Amino acid sequence: MARLRLVILVSGRGSNLDALLAASRAGRMDADVVRVLSNKADAAALDVARVAGVEALVLPSAGLSRDEHERLLAEAIDAARPDLVCLAGYMRILGGAFIRRYQGRLLNIHPSLLPAFPGLDAQGQAARANVRIAGCTTHFVTEDVDAGPIVMQAATAIPPGADPETVRSRILALEHELYPATIQLIASGEARWHDGRVVAKPGARLALVEASP
Ligand code: GRF
Repeated sequence: MARLRLVILVSGRGSNLDALLAASRAGRMDADVVRVLSNKADAAALDVARVAGVEALVLPSAGLSRDEHERLLAEAIDAARPDLVCLAGYMRILGGAFIRRYQGRLLNIHPSLLPAFPGLDAQGQAARANVRIAGCTTHFVTEDVDAGPIVMQAATAIPPGADPETVRSRILALEHELYPATIQLIASGEARWHDGRVVAKPGARLALVEASP
């Protein structure tokens, strides 16, 4: 089967991008990052891409309407002919027209076990709620923020009294496993978008559960 072409949208640090690049290089994911797009000129993720030899472009949104910005973004995405567009710490809410254009090809990773803790600072929300299990979710993006069809989830037990930083770093480590695993699941045909739902083959590994510490 042909390798998938990925365009990754970023705004910040780029650790998930780094994990995707590493998985691609190591042969754990039959997919290649072909272009990285950032709305922030100072995103560290741009350097992560460039160090890996991947084309990285900045498309600032300042001074543009949302429609104008997303039209330019879509042009830059389409020029790279991606199979999947992956949000990896992209900190802008996308408009309906943009989301519909990439329906079934637009993925996000969210640092909570959705539908718990949607929105900003999901890890802080989890820490403050004293949850016993935390994790992350990959899902197709739909117009309902953080509520699109779930592809995979990863979970870990949280030790009693864990501080927010511990919760944050445990979730992030899981994200770095989950995103490449999700893309491999799609690349291998084990899971796919169908009519607004995720359809998976029997036996597909959709959950990663870490043993208790
Ligand atoms: C991750 O926690 C991701 O789940 C969230 O934003 C963060 C991005 O981190 N959407 P990084 O830029 O990939 O390091």
